[in-house]
Amino acid sequence: MVKPTNIVWHDSEVTKEHRRLQKGHKSAIIWFTGLSGSGKSTISVALEKALYTKGFHTYRLDGDNVRHGLNNNLGFSPDDRSENIRRIGEVAKLMVDAGLFTLTAFISPYLEDRNQVRNLVEQDEFIEIYVKASLDTCEQRDPKGLYKKARLGEIKSFTGIDAPYEEPDRAEIVIDTNQLGIDESVEVIMAYLRENRYIS
Ligand code: ADX
Repeated sequence: MVKPTNIVWHDSEVTKEHRRLQKGHKSAIIWFTGLSGSGKSTISVALEKALYTKGFHTYRLDGDNVRHGLNNNLGFSPDDRSENIRRIGEVAKLMVDAGLFTLTAFISPYLEDRNQVRNLVEQDEFIEIYVKASLDTCEQRDPKGLYKKARLGEIKSFTGIDAPYEEPDRAEIVIDTNQLGIDESVEVIMAYLRENRYIS
């Protein structure tokens, strides 16, 4: 692909700060990472509901859903996963600019890809949440029957089985879903958002 030239950034007169003031709260990416079946989607859905109910503006991007549209040309090779996360990062950055709490639920198995998204935005605009559950637990839950298929060799390069998952080393929040239920997990995140003055 030839990179386009002669493209000049055009600033808006309505800025992120204006949009935040209008909405009455900050905006940030709330980035859930973890194995398939760890609970990322479930917790992000519950968190979004809790935030919405309290009047905060949100949007949620979810791996399985985004792969039906924006990223339907990507598979699960390392390069495709990186491109998946890069695009989500860019979309999430736009949404932060739009003034939204942007909840993302992607396995995002590579440290470097997650850190690239972290570096796209301001320091306090990226909150990484490691949804931690052992492979055994995820495999027992197997909500979509995919681990079974991966063990049978019907799915190749499945994260945790024959593709890597690199644990976060600087996550703002770690949620162990072997220990915490959905409501407790949401409360831990809401407490973090309150303590760090994202919401009041
Ligand atoms: S990521 O690795 O690129 O971040 P993403 O979160 O978008 O993955 O998609 C993961 C979802 O795709 C899983 O929850 C599962 O339903 C499905 N999936 C299909 N094939 C694979 C695979 N080989 N590895 C992991 N997940 C897969």
